Amino acid sequence: MKTAILRMLRNSNENYISGQKLSEQLQVSRTTVCNEVNSLREYGYEIDAVSRKGYLLKTTPDIVNDFAVGSLIKGGEFGKTIVYKDDIPSTNTLAKELAEKGYEHGTVVIADTQSSGRGRRGRNFMSPKGVGIFMTVILKPDFSPYCAPMLTLLAALAVSDAIEEIVEVPAKIKWPNDIVIGNKKICGILTEMSIQSDYINNIVVGIGINVNNPSFPEELKNIAGSIFTETNKKINRDVLIERVLFYFEKYYNIFLETKDLSNVKVIYNQKLVNLDKEVKVLDPTEPYEGIAKGITDNGELIVEINNQIRHVSSGEVSVR
Ligand code: BTN
Repeated sequence: MKTAILRMLRNSNENYISGQKLSEQLQVSRTTVCNEVNSLREYGYEIDAVSRKGYLLKTTPDIVNDFAVGSLIKGGEFGKTIVYKDDIPSTNTLAKELAEKGYEHGTVVIADTQSSGRGRRGRNFMSPKGVGIFMTVILKPDFSPYCAPMLTLLAALAVSDAIEEIVEVPAKIKWPNDIVIGNKKICGILTEMSIQSDYINNIVVGIGINVNNPSFPEELKNIAGSIFTETNKKINRDVLIERVLFYFEKYYNIFLETKDLSNVKVIYNQKLVNLDKEVKVLDPTEPYEGIAKGITDNGELIVEINNQIRHVSSGEVSVR
């Protein structure tokens, strides 16, 4: 009920909506409307109430729960179901459990903080309360497991578009899927897949964005930042989550047409922070250096070394 009331209040274009209209459209009593409005106020929504005019949403708090995000979702499959937890070990871990239990394609797990946020290569992902986005999208595709790594690049494109739309600063991609503002990493993505022979059970795409963090520990502050530290802008995280889901679904649908990145490659390369720069490929067997030339249709990084071209499909790349 909160989701529906909040959606109507958000969509009122700054006009008052009468209690009667809310109760009729949502088919609940006026008392229920009044109780729900009061409950929303307790969450920090500033809602004006004027007799004979109705309710007007004045300000919204920076919260990321199911009704905060759900009331912004405009349709589509991503975010139709939202599972929110204040504090869990990892949204990826919970998403995997829910996917096995039958939660639908497009379900999103969101947490306000994670006690054991997981990064790539077994690293931890710092997940402080109240300032970041920690979310995982459950996907149940019917394409080949070989396609899964490309989803991470689509998610990176979506995060970049969402940030650029809301904050109006360039949000570049460090191949394959870190988002950087200036030269600081502000987002990481961890994609995990459950397969049975050559069939995908599910894929979870976990996205962690440093949004309003005021500062970073000494050992991280040269490489990590938040949208706030890099732009001085504070934004509501629910609004950013909705945009990320919107763009992720958009890119996912484009991807489904060809099952590769041929239709988004040009956009991806425009955002690629490494493009035409010297990169160091931290290949576990043989590290090497070269010039990054963009991505292939399958999302591999094209690296030119001494007039030879190599396609990098794994291993970490650092801008020198
Ligand atoms: C990386 O940069 O190493 C990837 C970080 C991915 C972090 C996100 S936060 C939401 C989701 N849950 C996790 O435990 N990890 C991902």
